[in-house]
Amino acid sequence: MKNILFFSVLLLIVFGCSEKPNKDSLNEDASWWKEAVIYQVYPRSFKDTDGDGIGDLKGIIEKLDYIKSLGVTMVWLNPIYSSPNADNGYDISDYRAIMKEFGSMDDFDLLLKGLHERDIKFVMDVVVNHSSNQHEWFKESRSSRDNPYRDYYHWWPAEKGTPPYRYSLFDAKGDAWKYDSITDAYYLHYFSEQQPDLKWENPTLRQEVYDFMKFWADKGVDGFRLDAFQFAAKDTTYPAFPDDLEENFIQYYAMQDGLHQYLKEMNEEVFSKYEVMSVSEGAGRNFKEAHELVDADRNELNMAYAFEGVDIAKPEGYSLSHFKEVFSRWDKEFAKEGWLSIFLANHDQARLVSRFGNDSPNFRAPSTKMLNTFILSMRGTPYCYYGDELGMTNIGFDSISQYQDIAAINGYEKVKTDGGDLEEYLINLKFASRDNGRTPMQWDSTIHAGFSSGTPWLPVNDNYKTINVASQNADPQSCLNHFRKMVQLRKDEPVLVYGQYELLIPEHEQVYAYTRELNGEKVLVMLNFSSEVATVEIPVKENLEELYINNYEQIFLKDRVLSMEPYQAFIYSLTK
Ligand code: NOJ
Repeated sequence: MKNILFFSVLLLIVFGCSEKPNKDSLNEDASWWKEAVIYQVYPRSFKDTDGDGIGDLKGIIEKLDYIKSLGVTMVWLNPIYSSPNADNGYDISDYRAIMKEFGSMDDFDLLLKGLHERDIKFVMDVVVNHSSNQHEWFKESRSSRDNPYRDYYHWWPAEKGTPPYRYSLFDAKGDAWKYDSITDAYYLHYFSEQQPDLKWENPTLRQEVYDFMKFWADKGVDGFRLDAFQFAAKDTTYPAFPDDLEENFIQYYAMQDGLHQYLKEMNEEVFSKYEVMSVSEGAGRNFKEAHELVDADRNELNMAYAFEGVDIAKPEGYSLSHFKEVFSRWDKEFAKEGWLSIFLANHDQARLVSRFGNDSPNFRAPSTKMLNTFILSMRGTPYCYYGDELGMTNIGFDSISQYQDIAAINGYEKVKTDGGDLEEYLINLKFASRDNGRTPMQWDSTIHAGFSSGTPWLPVNDNYKTINVASQNADPQSCLNHFRKMVQLRKDEPVLVYGQYELLIPEHEQVYAYTRELNGEKVLVMLNFSSEVATVEIPVKENLEELYINNYEQIFLKDRVLSMEPYQAFIYSLTK
């Protein structure tokens, strides 16, 4: 028996019915989208109803009660528009139609209705830095130099010689200019050659985009997520960039002149006319630029998401002090103005627990719960990725032939061409590949995890027999039920949404501790990020009052010294 006292019973005494801050007393900037808990669904991998191995809208409809049971208030779906799927929907061929693999517009209307009936809002992904090369606009654009759509894309006539080098993130050669013999010219593609960049400098193109956004807003979507939008504005004189372009492309590509004009225009044309939330992928190159995107008086966006936090995890591990420093710095910068997005995983990342936690059998569950406690107790709108509520893990492919992701496959080709280390590339991919985070949702222990009756487009993780919704539903201590409790807690306690954040014991190597405080109400969040017991004195002067959540059954406390179990996470309210 451990020689530490089991104390939680005493500490659980609640001193009367503590008053919750009245929402009216919150800062006047309170907004529904700040209070939202967003659940991101990768439609291709959520639930397949027609047996083709690809998730569909009917499948999401079938699972609406599950989504509701999580307590989340908003769903973001990755692109569902018509697409040849070079990049799984991030290459759109028709902005007003539904991808045939996913279903029909009737399915979409039913899905939206089903969400709204359950008081869940919907975020539409808008991919307009580029379209698909199969979009009618591009087919027209490439057909002749004097086509009315020519100026919807960036072209460089070959008679001017080779265009100034541009780096492409997904191109097998890393070259963002693709020669097209039809008009003897090159077109620009920051992503793959199937994703030509749209020319935002053209006002007619911009109007087309606002028009289709209004088409979806009129249908009742509640938010827009702007894919890669920080890259949309370009200097169309295409000046030469320095040699470090590949390593520092964000420095040269992001936030170019014109971007704010386009966002203000989009805000005036679309956002301001509907009660929609707006978020852009990418938050500029520094805090000043992040504020310029999201501060309320800018009339541009509600929020943006930055990558500094999610980029911390590396195959060799990461340091907790770095993690604390990054999240505390971002919070501080946005404490007075602007609003953050909080996330540690999405469809461009590997699995939450495999990157930031510990996916070994003993620690997978507690570290998943600990990470979800973190995401749901920070200031900023939390984005939770499907399957992370269960602690789904990386699939860990060994061979390039197992990957489906264009970024992984073309990246491999590029390393080969550059004479790079392919073994090292594969090790990295095994840890960080996007396919790790895209394997089918694990619903139950039946064949293909209950995802599909056909062969899934990407294999189901072998661990589905033990990690799945059905088994976790039945277990009150499961990751899933911890996630639900944590979402509920955030919804019940405005201090977790709006409260001021203060980092405690920054030097502690295992424990991340912070308080959140609002209108006299204060909570203490304690997270052990390590696989060892962590000893730590209660880092506040107040007494612990009510235990709001704990991912273990006990709290070990003696003389104000806590012994935290591996990956233990709990939140206490503090006495006033
Ligand atoms: C960012 C998206 O999140 C990613 O999935 C996509 O591949 C690129 N943008 C290109 O659209």
